[in-house]
Amino acid sequence: MSRPAKSIHGQWSSRWAFILAATGAAVGLGNIWKFPYITGENGGGAFVLVYLLCIAAIGIPVMMAEILIGRRGRQNPVNSLHSLAAEEGKNSFWKYLGWSGVLSGFLILSYYSVIAGQAMAYVFRTFSGVFEGVTADGAKSIYSALINDPERLLAWHTVFMVFTMVVVARGVKGGLEKSVRFLMPALFAILLMLVGYAASTGEYFAQGLEFLFKPDFSKLSGEGVLTAMGHAFFTLSLGMGAIMVYGSYLPQKTSIMKVSIAISIADTLVALLAGMAIFPLVFANELATGAGPGLIFETLPIAFGHMVGGTFFGGMFFLLLVFAAWSSAISLIEPAIAWLVENKDVSRRRACVIAGFATWALGLLTVLSFNVGKSWTLFGQTMFGLLDYLTANIMLPLGGLLIAIFAGWIMKQQSTEDELAIEQPRLYIIWRALIRYVTPAAIVIVFIKIIGLF
Ligand code: PFF
Repeated sequence: MSRPAKSIHGQWSSRWAFILAATGAAVGLGNIWKFPYITGENGGGAFVLVYLLCIAAIGIPVMMAEILIGRRGRQNPVNSLHSLAAEEGKNSFWKYLGWSGVLSGFLILSYYSVIAGQAMAYVFRTFSGVFEGVTADGAKSIYSALINDPERLLAWHTVFMVFTMVVVARGVKGGLEKSVRFLMPALFAILLMLVGYAASTGEYFAQGLEFLFKPDFSKLSGEGVLTAMGHAFFTLSLGMGAIMVYGSYLPQKTSIMKVSIAISIADTLVALLAGMAIFPLVFANELATGAGPGLIFETLPIAFGHMVGGTFFGGMFFLLLVFAAWSSAISLIEPAIAWLVENKDVSRRRACVIAGFATWALGLLTVLSFNVGKSWTLFGQTMFGLLDYLTANIMLPLGGLLIAIFAGWIMKQQSTEDELAIEQPRLYIIWRALIRYVTPAAIVIVFIKIIGLF
């Protein structure tokens, strides 16, 4: 299998277009919804520290590996891996790694869309003013009324899936580039404002910061370490070929190292700001840090209900969150679409209908996990919990491990050196050491430790 000089889907118009799109893929529910609640469940500071270490030692090197594989292969992940393996004289079995990525994206989007649907419902709730002067108990009961109504969750999940697939059907590049350009600065501004509000809680702000940034390792379990590592993959959209697909549209001259670092920093900042906005409110209102997936929906409305202009800014916040989720959702399904179009010879539109419908249908499991199906558990997890665990804690790190092995051991040094084209030789050597030894060892050690727990 040979590789084309350019992707048949076209190219980003510039380096910026790629940075924006990849940041759009990275920044999403993972930063604002998931990071705070898993940090709360896993005891705070020590978890955050492990997460930051994973971003630096695993996330950035793997992101560089994914982009370089995508750009060199210039096709969907399945075909890029296949043709690069053939070029290096290696087994075509590597294409299955691309396959597992397509599957992970599909599984993740099925529940991602249901949560994005909840954020959509909150756009309307917040703008309507129901949160004005709301108490902690009031916010809690408004959230529980939403999730206990399967029809409503299903309706919002459906709306979100339709929006996502319509954009994907039109091609990823045009619209996305424009919306992310406005979205990211606006989201940043509102988060800063929320942190400002949190700062006005005085001692609780200090308590929130201490919770986030003062490590107490006695509160971190082995499972917590796995969750932190899995989240580093999830939040940067790694381990499943999403960034690889985006890399396949990247112009040849762009520095892969610089864009990877820029995207990772932006993504991490958004998550930390979200944590700084939320935990002071948790303490000020005597809520539980380990409240779970409802955490942002139960805390932030309290801030919006009491700050000046809260109804407007709150509505805007959830609207931006929906947009952020939407630009991530697009990247979750893009590997599947690129594969269907390139290998199955279906039109882009038809590919979207097939993949969109399948994802929507699987999403029903998550819809029901919040209400009538709450008691359908396996290994003590609901269907939603299971999908999340399987993808974020197992499939993405495993995908990342194989990507690291592919870039570090299967591809020749000359190939990766040419593609990365890093000016300072020392930095290339650091990357190569990380991707060959540190990243795989870290992932394997965490996995072994977890298996040892059982
Ligand atoms: N990074 C996204 C988030 O943090 O919300 C989620 C995601 C998108 C994961 C794309 C994986 C992916 F390929």
